[in-house]
Amino acid sequence: MDKEQYKIAVNKERQIGKVDPNIYGHFIEHLGRCIYGGIYEEGSSLSDERGFRKDVLEAVKNIKCPLLRWPGGNFASNYHWEDGIGPKDKRPVRFDLAWAKEETNRFGTDEFIEYCREVGAEPYICVNIGTGSLDEAIHWLEYCNSSGNTYYAKLRRENGHPEPYRVKYWGVGNENYGEWQVGYRSAKEYAKVLREYAKFMKTVDSTIKIIAVGADNPDWDLEVIKTAGKYIDYISNHQYLGSDDYYETVASVYWLEKRLKILSQVIDIAQPLVKEEEKIKIALDEWNIWYRGIPENGNEENYALKDGLFAAGVFIILHKLCQSVTMANLAQLVNVLGAIYTEKHGLYLTPIYRAFELFTNHSGDIVLDTFVQSERYDIEGEGGIAKVKFKLHNIPYLDASATLDKNENRLYLAVINYHKEKEIDCPIVLNGFSPSAEAKIYELNGPDVMAINDFENPERVKIKTAIIKNAGPKFTYSFPPHSCTVVEFQIE
Ligand code: AHR
Ligand code: AHR
Ligand code: AHR
Repeated sequence: MDKEQYKIAVNKERQIGKVDPNIYGHFIEHLGRCIYGGIYEEGSSLSDERGFRKDVLEAVKNIKCPLLRWPGGNFASNYHWEDGIGPKDKRPVRFDLAWAKEETNRFGTDEFIEYCREVGAEPYICVNIGTGSLDEAIHWLEYCNSSGNTYYAKLRRENGHPEPYRVKYWGVGNENYGEWQVGYRSAKEYAKVLREYAKFMKTVDSTIKIIAVGADNPDWDLEVIKTAGKYIDYISNHQYLGSDDYYETVASVYWLEKRLKILSQVIDIAQPLVKEEEKIKIALDEWNIWYRGIPENGNEENYALKDGLFAAGVFIILHKLCQSVTMANLAQLVNVLGAIYTEKHGLYLTPIYRAFELFTNHSGDIVLDTFVQSERYDIEGEGGIAKVKFKLHNIPYLDASATLDKNENRLYLAVINYHKEKEIDCPIVLNGFSPSAEAKIYELNGPDVMAINDFENPERVKIKTAIIKNAGPKFTYSFPPHSCTVVEFQIE
């Protein structure tokens, strides 16, 4: 009997965990046109009275942004938060060392929290351990979360915010392993600083979650967990990948998977040495395709369908790793490596945005172990701004993730056909389910892998919908080349 080349099988009994909604998180940094001219543009006819671009707000709400990281990134390491509160016209303009530009401070903590509330996101603040101090971090935390009588709790109330902001997620530093960072440190130095900040920030508010800087390097990550593991809840990982080459770009999804699995193993090795309670989780708190954007062009890319498929592929990996990766932030939301692209007169949505649109609106919260049989290939390549070299074997042309939404009795099968030319006829078996014969199709695709969206043609890469009538526990579906399809079943 011929072995089938392609097959997808799901079993209702084999549930591997819950998707944390925070894996669909975002990041805004004071860099280029991400904040000023992106989400925030005072005086624009497209903005509301707060200066928030209404068209951007609508687009952000449409991808259910659950979590928003701010103010950087590299910027965070020289940001003095007190410059960004109080009457806007009195706020000082400062020189920003991270990106060598002037910062007006017109968007600060109160504006950030207001933005999070408006889009329904949990705020995630990254504190300054470069030019900042423990005092400054503690004061920031008091300003945000304290209901007490301290100077900073009162200051928030005086600024018109009686209720504490209850900011749950706090990052201690950013990429401190890199020479480019203000506050560049060795693993040992960083780990000690982290321990101090984390311990005393939790003294001020024991309910917060601390995100430590991971380096995508087991030596660094081990040191950080051994020294400060008792006080941290997450360790971070950053992944910037992609190139002009199609397969190099989409295959790098599996490089990202490998790096996250290594970090998960490092946690397994190091954590028992320091704490037994809840497992330290991974925060993939910066990830994207980034290989062209440079400071001179404001770190702007122009994403193509191939990059959207990469993002969709990352979500499939994050579903599989739902036990260890419970937070992820695309870097970044607007213009700077942006999912959304704005000009003064309007915006368009990139293929990466489309991947968010697909997954945040059409996936469930329980992950099912999804068996995928596929033709495979080997690839040697590199990617990202740092030209990371990789060798990968047995990369599938077809990959999938099934998620179940128990309450609504819906099953979502997300399938990527990474093949550049070939349509793939794939038998699908849904064991333990009685799905209806009618199913909804949401297909992210475009005319070719290099297709982009722009103002002239904002819908070149988009999500097409259809209904099929021949679904059921066993059926075959033809997945078009270079596409990501979600098949949504009603469970009887
Ligand atoms: O997202 C752009 C930059 O990339 C961030 O500021 C930094 O953390 C990373 O190097
Ligand atoms: O009420 C929020 C904060 O929780 C308080 O400011 C802090 O003292 C407590 O830990
Ligand atoms: O390395 C490629 C493998 O192919 C991945 O580990 C797996 O998720 C995929 O099916």
